[in-house]
Amino acid sequence: MDTAPNLVLIGPMGAGKSSIGKRLAERFGLAFVDADREVETQTGVSIATIFDCEGEAGFRERERSVLAKLLDGRDQLIATGGGAVLDAESRALMRRHGFVVHLHVDVDGQLQRLARCTNRPLLQREDREEVLRVLAAAREPLYAETADLRFDTRDLSPADATSLLTKLL
Ligand code: S3P
Repeated sequence: MDTAPNLVLIGPMGAGKSSIGKRLAERFGLAFVDADREVETQTGVSIATIFDCEGEAGFRERERSVLAKLLDGRDQLIATGGGAVLDAESRALMRRHGFVVHLHVDVDGQLQRLARCTNRPLLQREDREEVLRVLAAAREPLYAETADLRFDTRDLSPADATSLLTKLL
């Protein structure tokens, strides 16, 4: 990853993109940026509110433009939202301007980690497991296509995942 301008984390909700990302950024002396938080800073409202007012399509548009701007910079560790890979142009930009790491966790791992999560709009339904399985089936090929490296975070603490990744990168 030496020559890539940025380190980009992709992967499903609960994979550890933010918790591992913050630690990795510190290890590598990169600025940590969370694309979801950038969207919230720019709009002044939560992602849940954006989904309520503009629907998922509105959020995706904002996510795409925030990512394009971030990827124009360098020396950043960019943690993306789980659905950022849905957009073909974003996928191309991530590959062009970053070394892309897919943090993987399976649906059982997601259910454990997200059990107390109340602020993710896509998890507001009763049938969380089914929702997560449908999302995983649709997105796994996109994560695979975009990533330079795949790393399974299941059963690893953020600190342990970070130590292992530091050796791999
Ligand atoms: C989403 C994941 C979230 C956030 C939004 C939509 C998704 O980010 O972007 O709620 O489509 O999987 P995290 O992956 O950081 O939870």
